[in-house]
Amino acid sequence: MPPAHVQVEASFSLDRGGIMHAFVTGAAGFIGSALCRRLLSEGFTVVGVDSMTDHYAIELKRDNLLFIGANPSFRFIEADLNTADIGALADGADFIFHQAGQPGVRGSWGKRFAEYTSANVLATQRLLEAACSLSGLRRFVFASSSSVYGDAERYPTLELDRPQPVSPYGVTKLAAEHLCYSYGVESGLPTVSLRYFTVYGPRQRPDMAFTRFLGAALADQELTIFGDGTQLRDFTFVEDIVDANMRAAHYGGPAGSVFNVSGGSNVSVNEVLEMIEDLVGRPLKVKRIAHAMGDVFRTRGSTKAIEKALGWRPRISISEGLTLQRDWQVASQGPIGASGELVVEGGLRPASG
Ligand code: NAD
Ligand code: UGA
Repeated sequence: MPPAHVQVEASFSLDRGGIMHAFVTGAAGFIGSALCRRLLSEGFTVVGVDSMTDHYAIELKRDNLLFIGANPSFRFIEADLNTADIGALADGADFIFHQAGQPGVRGSWGKRFAEYTSANVLATQRLLEAACSLSGLRRFVFASSSSVYGDAERYPTLELDRPQPVSPYGVTKLAAEHLCYSYGVESGLPTVSLRYFTVYGPRQRPDMAFTRFLGAALADQELTIFGDGTQLRDFTFVEDIVDANMRAAHYGGPAGSVFNVSGGSNVSVNEVLEMIEDLVGRPLKVKRIAHAMGDVFRTRGSTKAIEKALGWRPRISISEGLTLQRDWQVASQGPIGASGELVVEGGLRPASG
């Protein structure tokens, strides 16, 4: 049975008059597929590209493509941004939404860093170069990350606060964001970067916390917590992220701008566990191990700038969003996430608070 689409108020449309064309990278991923689906539902033609990396099961990416649905306005191309003729693929795009990348904070240490530089830095630079040759491009939206802040100097963190990533992943996302700025100010490419804060909801990646916790809880299996669980995250629901992309495409401000996209829920991992216990109706089996390297103690983003510039604010609360994700895991995927390998490339460090 195809999974039910999560309907959240479609609050914004770029252009209901003419047909707009979008080029979406990372289209088979968690966020990219949700974005494609929204663009199509709003009447866009969409070319989606994805290299189908195997950092998680390719079946899940195929399922994400099925979720986008058969639509004559959608064309999917399996291609690697590091080798593809991007100019030809993106020809005619009014908007580029660059979601492709190698995500995941804890897996970015050690040998795997090469994959992160390739997918996050080199691919972005190639895409930016190609975008410079497109005529009629109205906006280039880049999926940046709260991980650029590291352990931030204050909370809620402002876009102007000093980025000090504490993971190799965060370093690559910051480098890519700086490339977007450079091409914005020097080449006039209309870039804008959105710093997503821990995104969750239906189709969340299987390495991420909620998929793993819900998967284990539903299967009555043990789940693993890094550190003492007091770390806080500004969890953000995926349809809110999609909405921010739609609005960012319409942004009329300067190239190279940066905005936080954060859900407003500043809850600890321990609080999430309590919510999941209530949702599944049974006590969880929890194993606690040391903090993972690169895992920041807290994220909380100020949304003042994005509210002012784009009229965006999060709509889905953590309790609503977690319920939607549980329903999706129950209905369409079963207890995925329960048995996947824990990815901690760099190792674990003693809790420091
Ligand atoms: P995802 O892994 O589900 O999707 C990313 C997609 O990019 C994958 O399907 C992958 O195959 C594709 N890809 C990787 N390298 C590519 C290349 N060279 N060419 C073409 N395609 C390539 O991840 P996601 O969670 O949907 O994240 C999407 C974007 O948002 C990423 O750039 C990530 O860094 C960023 N981000 C995600 C979160 C989050 O919480 N999920 C938070 C902050 C930022
Ligand atoms: C997430 C994404 O995975 C990154 O790609 C993204 O860039 C980042 O958000 C961001 O906001 O920029 P993270 O916050 O680590 O990274 O998201 P989760 O994997 O959902 O982890 C949330 C918290 O749960 C972390 O403190 C993590 O240590 C903890 N966790 C996760 C566990 O305790 N156990 C697990 O099995 C998984």
